Amino acid sequence: MEKPGGPFTIRDIDIQAPERDEVLVKIAAAGICHTDLTTRHRWPAERCPMVFGHEGAGVVEAVGEAVTTVSPGDTVCLSYRSCGVCEQCAGGHTAYCDKAGALNVSGSRMDGSTCHSLEGAPVFGSYFGQSSFATYALAYESNTVTVPADLPPALAAPLGCSVQTGAGTVLNVLQPPPGTALAVFGAGSVGLSAVMAAVAEGCTVIAVEPVAARRDKALELGASAVVDPTAENDVAAIVREHTGGGTHYAVDTTGQSAVITQAITALRNRGSLALVGIGAQAEFNVMAVMTKGIRIHGVIEGEAVPSEFIPRLIGLYQRGQLPLERLITEFPLHDIEAAAQAAASGQVIKPVLSLG
Ligand SMILES: NC(=O)c1ccc[n+]([C@@H]2O[C@H](COP(=O)([O-])OP(=O)(O)OC[C@H]3O[C@@H](n4cnc5c(N)ncnc54)[C@H](O)[C@@H]3O)[C@@H](O)[C@H]2O)c1
Ligand SMILES: [Zn+2]
Ligand SMILES: [Zn+2]
Repeated sequence: MEKPGGPFTIRDIDIQAPERDEVLVKIAAAGICHTDLTTRHRWPAERCPMVFGHEGAGVVEAVGEAVTTVSPGDTVCLSYRSCGVCEQCAGGHTAYCDKAGALNVSGSRMDGSTCHSLEGAPVFGSYFGQSSFATYALAYESNTVTVPADLPPALAAPLGCSVQTGAGTVLNVLQPPPGTALAVFGAGSVGLSAVMAAVAEGCTVIAVEPVAARRDKALELGASAVVDPTAENDVAAIVREHTGGGTHYAVDTTGQSAVITQAITALRNRGSLALVGIGAQAEFNVMAVMTKGIRIHGVIEGEAVPSEFIPRLIGLYQRGQLPLERLITEFPLHDIEAAAQAAASGQVIKPVLSLG
């Protein structure tokens, strides 16, 4: 991206060889997450040109001298980075690493250097420790997860962010017992990953989503009911009706204040709400949250430790409980801007760039 807001353009640039804990990965597929699209509009001009992409998958080409857990030739997917030594990381809460911002979204290495350049000038990157909208990515041992060689790279790629986020919010954070109800607000790749995980757990799932094709997809993935918020005056009442008086759990992937209020209203007493969508300010009724004993969780990356959770997701996929392929539309790398537009407009759910 050469200036804030885009578009994405294809350029030949230089990438450094891996040092220390760095891992050079030849990218075979890279998912486009909504976060790439939101962030490109908020990115500072002084950190351009910038390489985005944080759902990479491919084959390890070379490793730095300190790397012990992956080797050249390994098939991998890439996730978010964490420092491994702060209080949060030491407690196993790597999604809330104290250094998460500097490690994932600063546009450079921790020391301010960039691993990309163009005719000697810096090109920013290191996005989620990868910047995988590229033929090669310089990742790190901490965000590189080995995957089976026979897992198609287009399916491995989105495990690193959107699938992990949606499924992890259900499996790691809300942990709904079988037979409980779970409502998902927004059925994009994150919301539909939550749908698949909740269906696998034996929940009654209801999805609220304005795009008809996405509502159909939620039903196909096992949701028992869907609601079109543009056609209904009282979305919360419909969710309550479908869930025997109120849902036990809700996941918001929209970040919109009015939708968060619908979710709170749709919950039964002592219900739990997970906030996952990027948003700004939200206003809600404090008395409703208090008197109903609602628990609100902010959730990053499904609170997953990628090296443990991604293999678990692959197990679910192999058992047919996480049919990822139903979310994915592949695009060649040179169509990256068209793929981004198709995701932003809701036309495709999970665009994945294929570089193979
Ligand atoms: N917390 C995290 O760690 C994390 C990780 C990945 C993505 N995200 C964020 O999660 C959000 C979802 O990501 P995505 O890739 O699934 O995006 P997406 O845009 O595909 O999904 C959002 C969905 O919400 C729907 N929507 C819009 N208005 C609605 C309404 N009034 N009621 C119900 N649904 C409505 C949209 O039609 C869309 O399908 C984004 O904000 C993304 O940046 C957060
Ligand atoms: Zn993401
Ligand atoms: Zn840390």
